[in-house]
Amino acid sequence: KRRIGVLTSGGDAPGMNGAVRAIVRMAIHYECEAFAIYEGYDGLVKGGDLIRPMAWEDVRGFLSEGGTLIGTARCKEFMQRPGRLQAARNLISKGIDALIVIGGDGSLTGADVFRAEWPGLLEELVSSSQLSEQDVEPFKHLNIVGLVGSIDNDLSMTDATIGCYTSLTRICEAVDSVDTTATSHQRAFIIEVMGRHCGWLALMAGVATGADFIFIPENPCQETWAEDLCATVQKHRKLGKRKTIVIIAEGAIDEKLNKITPNMVKDILSNQAKLDTRVTTLGHVQRGGTPCAYDRMLATLQGVDAVKAVLECTPDKPSPVICIVENKICRRPLVEAVAQTKEVAVAINNKDFEKAMHLRDAE
Ligand code: F6P
Repeated sequence: KRRIGVLTSGGDAPGMNGAVRAIVRMAIHYECEAFAIYEGYDGLVKGGDLIRPMAWEDVRGFLSEGGTLIGTARCKEFMQRPGRLQAARNLISKGIDALIVIGGDGSLTGADVFRAEWPGLLEELVSSSQLSEQDVEPFKHLNIVGLVGSIDNDLSMTDATIGCYTSLTRICEAVDSVDTTATSHQRAFIIEVMGRHCGWLALMAGVATGADFIFIPENPCQETWAEDLCATVQKHRKLGKRKTIVIIAEGAIDEKLNKITPNMVKDILSNQAKLDTRVTTLGHVQRGGTPCAYDRMLATLQGVDAVKAVLECTPDKPSPVICIVENKICRRPLVEAVAQTKEVAVAINNKDFEKAMHLRDAE
């Protein structure tokens, strides 16, 4: 009978609550005990009342709620070993022997470091007389399972992260709203979207709204982008289009790795294409609101599989991250998925953009 802790970490993402609900209820279904760790890794480090047992009814209504109801944080203490030592002590004092982490690649990296250090942390707790041999004996193996909750859809080895389709929906709604005013005034709008170093949100939003031009980090524009942009926009205008929509990822760069900002694009459209141009930064609006059907479904199916994965984990197997590939829920080694994701940034830095695209996609 396992005691399973769940936490959400990093930037919140719509659908995280659905995952927590599925994990709590599936744990209870398998006669395990479920614990919510509030405020992400902060809760793990601080312990006490931030780690609470969860009953079936405690997650009622979670499925349709946006954000994360158990809170999240970007925790600095957990990045240091003393913070992780404290976290290990708190887990043991609550009797928790399995941890499901819902977060982006940074949060999952933290989870993996924790698992790798676990035996050493136990030794240190005993040698410093914080806990006895008997205290730590039942906790020799900490099972860790990852779920990817992030609007960015930036983790390799999975087709979708929990939250990305809600965010995409929110962006499309916003672009549709901008469209009406842009058309009325025959204006150009540059819409900056989130995604950190990943262009998925920008690319998909551009496709879904019929944008005129898209800037993403993985396939950077050439140095001549200003001319290309003006030529494209003017061609569309000649075809009778009364508005211009440019979607720019917050991580957009050119092929020499120079950052491209919305204001740079605005200057070109205003001064060279002679268009009345405005910039709209969507900001955290695109991370908020109720999760779409896909994210509720993904979060539920992955939450269910996360509990199964916890129960099937053995010390010799690597920690899994629950993914979705070609519409099937599957498990991939957490360390490898995170490593491959980091390789994308390396490939971009090395200007190997084809490799970057491939690494994003690869199973
Ligand atoms: O990772 C999710 C994300 O929303 C990114 O797209 C964005 O760059 C970042 O988090 C914003 O972080 P914060 O909410 O801490 O400002």
